Amino acid sequence: MRPLERLRAFFRERYPLGGLAEFATHKTVPVHRHSFWYYWGGMTLALIGMQIASGVLLLLYYRPSAQEAFESVRFIMTKVQFGWLVRSVHAWAANLVIFSAMVHLASVFFLKAYRPPRELTWVTGAVLLFLLMGFGFTGYLLPWNTLAFFATKVGTEIAGVVPVMGPIIQVFLRGGSDVGDVTLTRFFWLHIAILPLMVVGVIGLHLVMVQLQGMSKPLTVREERSIPFFPNFFLRDLIAWALILGAVLSVSVYWPATLGEKADPFAPTPAGIQPEWYFLWMFQTLKLVPGHVFGLEGELVAVGATGVAGLALLLVPWLDRPARRGRSHWMVLAAGILAVLYVVGMTGYALWIGHRP
Ligand code: HEM
Repeated sequence: MRPLERLRAFFRERYPLGGLAEFATHKTVPVHRHSFWYYWGGMTLALIGMQIASGVLLLLYYRPSAQEAFESVRFIMTKVQFGWLVRSVHAWAANLVIFSAMVHLASVFFLKAYRPPRELTWVTGAVLLFLLMGFGFTGYLLPWNTLAFFATKVGTEIAGVVPVMGPIIQVFLRGGSDVGDVTLTRFFWLHIAILPLMVVGVIGLHLVMVQLQGMSKPLTVREERSIPFFPNFFLRDLIAWALILGAVLSVSVYWPATLGEKADPFAPTPAGIQPEWYFLWMFQTLKLVPGHVFGLEGELVAVGATGVAGLALLLVPWLDRPARRGRSHWMVLAAGILAVLYVVGMTGYALWIGHRP
């Protein structure tokens, strides 16, 4: 027997996973005019892979303390071979992974892939988006530069507005009454241990569901054509991954991540501090909301509305029930279009204000 055959026989004897292999060889993917959108979940996955690889490399030199964090990142960028590139890939892929997950969500929403039996695939997906945002929020503080420090101060202040639980959440996140060394330690462990464990678990569930149920076909598609997942669709997935890797490397080389100044906790909050772009729509809403709305504090109304929007996102499959199709279909579709317009509009407006001289 050849060495490869012997290795195969070794595993086959010990782990009879023939059923799984059989399942994989029979899996097919529908081909139609909307098939392009089937690649976005895989691209999100590839970007998460890049985040893990670059994050592990950054960990070799990063030091999670207020005294050393900034200096360790400066060391990575100036002294470690290709350290600047690894940090830039981590920063760019962090943004792209959220963008790609948002495109995936929007495509799944507008193609109505959340309809039964895929309700829980949708819910796990929405949870993944929230977790990815958690990665962004906690990672932003780690370089301990001015922007990171004050954006976290403002962000955790907003968390404090949440009714009843707000002050508890704020102290829990900050590890005290203000942002400091303890906050950095907490964010570090959330970023490199707790959130990754949660993401890996939820991605596992999401992918198992996708594998078991296969890809859905949009309601408007009549064609019956499909291609095998292995190797046809998988090879196309690989092309998409190569393209996204090329894109991340190119932008990282041409526009490497910057570091700015070390945070000074005693300095006044500089003007124009803004969070990452995917939080801008919430941030801008808070800035624009009047002091009082219907007799309630404006900030409270804005934070409450964001919470309701998050809950509505989780419940989309139940808000648009096939039995009630017609009325609920149009309402959910209109709400989705309005939400996209609102988020894109507010983000654009906040970016425009932020870049105004
Ligand atoms: C970390 C983030 C995510 C990863 C890695 C991921 C991964 C994937 C993959 C690989 C697929 C199969 C291929 C495809 O349809 O693109 C898929 C399908 C799906 N995803 Fe995600 N996803 C993520 C986030 C989301 C989000 C935010 C939602 C929506 C709230 C979502 C809902 C779905 C649904 C409903 C399907 C089934 C699509 C169908 O059958 O047509 N996913 N996901």
